[in-house]
Amino acid sequence: MSRSAPHSPVPHSTNAFSVRISPVSAVSADFRLPGDKSISHRSAILAAIGEGQSRIDNYSSARDCRNTLDCLSALGVHYEIRDSIILIDGVGLTGLRAPTSQLDAGNSGSTIRMLAGILAGQPFESEIGGDESLSRRPMRRIIEPLASMGAHIEARDSNFPPLRIRGGNLQAITYQPPVASAQVKTCVLFAGLFADGATTVIETTPTRDHSEIMLAECGADIRTTMSGESSQISITGGKSLRALGDYAVAGDVSSAAFFLVAALTAPKGSIRLRHIGINPSRTALIDVLNRMGGEVRIENAGRKHGEPVADLWAQAARLRGHIELSGPIIANLIDEIPILAVAGTRIDGSLTIRGAQELRVKESDRINAIVENLKRMGIVVEEFEDGFHLEGGQPLKGARLDSFGDHRIAMAFAVVGLLAEGETIINGAEAAAVSLPEFYELLAAAGADIQLED
Ligand code: S3P
Repeated sequence: MSRSAPHSPVPHSTNAFSVRISPVSAVSADFRLPGDKSISHRSAILAAIGEGQSRIDNYSSARDCRNTLDCLSALGVHYEIRDSIILIDGVGLTGLRAPTSQLDAGNSGSTIRMLAGILAGQPFESEIGGDESLSRRPMRRIIEPLASMGAHIEARDSNFPPLRIRGGNLQAITYQPPVASAQVKTCVLFAGLFADGATTVIETTPTRDHSEIMLAECGADIRTTMSGESSQISITGGKSLRALGDYAVAGDVSSAAFFLVAALTAPKGSIRLRHIGINPSRTALIDVLNRMGGEVRIENAGRKHGEPVADLWAQAARLRGHIELSGPIIANLIDEIPILAVAGTRIDGSLTIRGAQELRVKESDRINAIVENLKRMGIVVEEFEDGFHLEGGQPLKGARLDSFGDHRIAMAFAVVGLLAEGETIINGAEAAAVSLPEFYELLAAAGADIQLED
């Protein structure tokens, strides 16, 4: 029998806690997961500026996605939560109103970067900031294109939040982002909705294309053309958007990743995760796990709202191979590298990641966080500026670890705790709520022995 994740559109407590995890003998589960975080952010923003009401089912329970809703509310958008459905009354392209205080993006890079694109198109001034981690994340990557469209943006050291944005009267541009980033692409496309003419983003490394898919669903004048290795995504400004209507968000494949690796690396058992988004721009982890000898199966594949969805199944497996990842694949599995490192510790072979310097500017410096926690567990790991290398099969000893205030580090190392000898304690475990507040409950339901401590 499958069951749904305990759904909580209202985030769980943000009080600090640790988790104590013991080795697991088997992982076994069959459940659905809350909606994809990337898709949820976009659905709320586009519903807000669409014409009419959108009813979004399985909206992510992530605290980040709640931040997006709260920012939209401060911009005059009415929303309501009814069971698992969020109703959003769109105000149209010109209906947002000036916020009365600074917008709070919390920990969410997606919220600040995507909303900055919308704010740049408004005829009012606004300010958007976030928590300590977000205040250290680079924003020049969005400030530059938005400024060349005509927005005035002030930031700390011209790069860091909070951002003060004076928008309006945008001109279309053609822009080739210097980093592979779906957030930057989305920011420019969203600003393009308000610009005079056709705005084009040239992408040389493919990144997730949820914005393009959803903008098309809303009736935007958007088209992608390929030329050689790069793609050009063009959007014409000034055309009103349809509401999303009844929109069901597929389960989050980046959350699924933790459970897939837990199942593959456990001594026995299997897991089935239902109705997960399997957009090919997000599934490189599955390909890599299968390349390592894991057998992640894709079942009941279909398509909803232009997004591919399927059930995912995995069972305990012997992982092997010398896996070296670099180049364009990195953008596809950027959020999965912490949990991939966990799979790497169990491989009969080695794991090398290069070209992943973007990890240094995520919610934490993820390269440092991965290397530091693995070292505390007794693993010899080599750190590079843009990645790391480790030999698999080294003994993993339970230790006191840190989340570094980063949700994906907390969750990845909770999964290592299932494999290590002795107990593993993760300080700052509450960070998981940034993307999956139900994580520990679900892992316990799959067979893990987890104690929460204040
Ligand atoms: C996201 C894009 C990625 C990813 C983030 C979500 C998105 O960031 O790491 O978790 O929803 O567009 P970048 O675009 O900055 O790489």
